[in-house]
Amino acid sequence: MPLIELIEVGKSYLIDGVKKLIIDGVNLSIARGSIVAIIGPSGSGKSTLLNIIGGLDSTFDGEAVVENVKLKDLSDVELSRFRNEKIGFIFQHFNLLDHLNCRENVILPSYFSRLNPKEIEKRVNYLFDKVQLTHKMRQYPPTLSGGEKQRVAIARALFMNPSVLLCDEPTGDLDDVTASTILDLFLSIRKDMNVTFVIVTHEERITKIADEIYMIKERRLVRI
Ligand SMILES: Nc1ncnc2c1ncn2[C@@H]1O[C@H](COP(=O)(O)OP(=O)(O)OP(=O)(O)O)[C@@H](O)[C@H]1O
Ligand SMILES: [Mg+2]
Repeated sequence: MPLIELIEVGKSYLIDGVKKLIIDGVNLSIARGSIVAIIGPSGSGKSTLLNIIGGLDSTFDGEAVVENVKLKDLSDVELSRFRNEKIGFIFQHFNLLDHLNCRENVILPSYFSRLNPKEIEKRVNYLFDKVQLTHKMRQYPPTLSGGEKQRVAIARALFMNPSVLLCDEPTGDLDDVTASTILDLFLSIRKDMNVTFVIVTHEERITKIADEIYMIKERRLVRI
């Protein structure tokens, strides 16, 4: 049973009263623990596709199934819980909250769940160790380098022990050396936590760690 399944997924936006089709007839099946890269030109619908898989967009055609749950069957409250518990999001610009320290950023998802303080402590220590930033836990994001910020964002995305990390250009703001440390971290997370990755990218080095590569071409998803 695949972890993620898209069946005949389509998405259009109403722009100035005119319906514009962005993606159409997209079928995709992703096995647990795999790393999938999605490439395609700017505006081709890569972020649109991630938003559908991650339950951020529920107004699409077709079906999206994650861990045997049809996302369209979920109420708004159930969909929020699904996002908080099953999905981690990683973005190009890190999206940390500057007025919270790194530790507070990482435990943010726990405010919407029922984890006890002992469990929170255990997870936070494990994750800061994993991203090798234990010594910077109490610092604020503006005092970190780009790569460090992204590692904090990764720890935060993993905090609820999600099945999937959805990454939108995760190394787009980083230099070559820092980008490869992030990719090594992805491989180590996959190995230790059996997380599945869907990574949107235009960078060749990311496609090198991917088990499968897809391209959005003329609104369709094509395996390459
Ligand atoms: N909320 C919206 N309303 C109207 N049009 C939108 C909306 N979101 C995205 N679009 C349009 O849908 C298309 C696909 O957008 P999307 O953000 O998915 O592209 P992308 O492949 O991620 O591009 P990039 O590589 O530049 O990030 C674009 O033409 C965009 O303008
Ligand atoms: Mg995008």
